Amino acid sequence: MAKRKLKKFAEVSSFDNCFFLSFEQSREEGLPLKGKWNKEFFKNDNPIVLELGCGKGEYTVGLAKRYPNKNFIGVDIKG
Ligand SMILES: C[S@@+](CC[C@H](N)C(=O)[O-])C[C@H]1O[C@@H](n2cnc3c(N)ncnc32)[C@H](O)[C@@H]1O
Repeated sequence: MAKRKLKKFAEVSSFDNCFFLSFEQSREEGLPLKGKWNKEFFKNDNPIVLELGCGKGEYTVGLAKRYPNKNFIGVDIKG
């Protein structure tokens, strides 16, 4: 993997609100927060909005700032 990509992964891994899961991991262990996002991560009962293919998440973060009464999850296949 290119140095720049490794550096980016290392940086993003340090964020509290970012998770990395390989396909193998999800197949073998399941999705750790499945059905438990509000109880274990957001710690509230707000409705969840899921953005698939969120890229770097700028749009997701923008929406989250605009709608603080909803819980936003962004998913992307790339780091
Ligand atoms: C055109 S970009 C949009 C990025 C973002 N939504 C935005 O508006 O800035 C599409 C994104 O979809 C992601 N993507 C494509 N196939 C995917 C898949 N199967 N699962 C998750 N993300 C995927 C790509 O990695 C890419 O970041």
